[in-house]
Amino acid sequence: MEWLTDRAMLQRWRRQVQGQLAFVPTMGALHEGHLRLLRAARESPGRVIASIFVNPTQFAPNEDFARYPRTLEQDRLLLQEAGCDAVFVPSVAEMYHGSGQTRVQVEPLGSDLCGRFRPTHFQGVATVVTILLNLVRPDRLYLGCKDYQQLILLRQMVADLALPVQVLGVETVREADGLAMSSRNRYLAPEERARAVGVAQALAAAQQARRAGERRVEVLQAVAQAVLARHGIEQVDYVAVRDAATLAALPEGVIGDQDPVMLLAVRVGTTRLIDNRILA
Ligand code: PAF
Repeated sequence: MEWLTDRAMLQRWRRQVQGQLAFVPTMGALHEGHLRLLRAARESPGRVIASIFVNPTQFAPNEDFARYPRTLEQDRLLLQEAGCDAVFVPSVAEMYHGSGQTRVQVEPLGSDLCGRFRPTHFQGVATVVTILLNLVRPDRLYLGCKDYQQLILLRQMVADLALPVQVLGVETVREADGLAMSSRNRYLAPEERARAVGVAQALAAAQQARRAGERRVEVLQAVAQAVLARHGIEQVDYVAVRDAATLAALPEGVIGDQDPVMLLAVRVGTTRLIDNRILA
């Protein structure tokens, strides 16, 4: 597995790749969810490259950039075992080469949902992913469905900018009790970890209500909110039911022919957790 620390090394490696290239961008602190992305990438023909870069521009000054888990040695072993062909591991200076004056914004999607609470987050994500795509020039980009808004936003960006890459969303991997795997789960104290199960249960309760015939968004949101409250999760940034392809609000607040997605963001202690589920 090639360990590529600067742009020139990456570009040299890229030039000798023949055939298809799959790309899995990450911020490291790898867990089973990332490995699922790598497996999906590995299963299709061609080579696989991952990146590890904790991107400062997607964290606000009051967020967890400094304490974001960094487990580079362990990540390296996991990527090797997963059959990755190369890893791009740039420094901040190497990633934001030059003056760094340009930002990529996907609006209004980037200001909605998580964007209401993290106003500069998606601009940071869209900008770094654009740089990465231009450097790596992959045929396929693999992203987790766990960060559902990020997936839809990057799909939109790729379409709007006519970037020559196919975007693939890979299913969320969950712990045995349903908690979606996330690098941030390791921040949870044991008592918080126990309460965090309420997130997946809130989504499951909404799904059950939907299956029982409920179509009103407000009622489904209230069902999820009640489960969060029962688990002592009182800091709720949002619970929303949206069009699963575009994240647009549902006309009249009622589910139509298409299965929508429920998305939520909460804080358990100081840890922000997000999750989502297609209400089928
Ligand atoms: O999902 C992530 O880990 C990050 O947002 C990404 C896509 C690697 C961009 O920094």
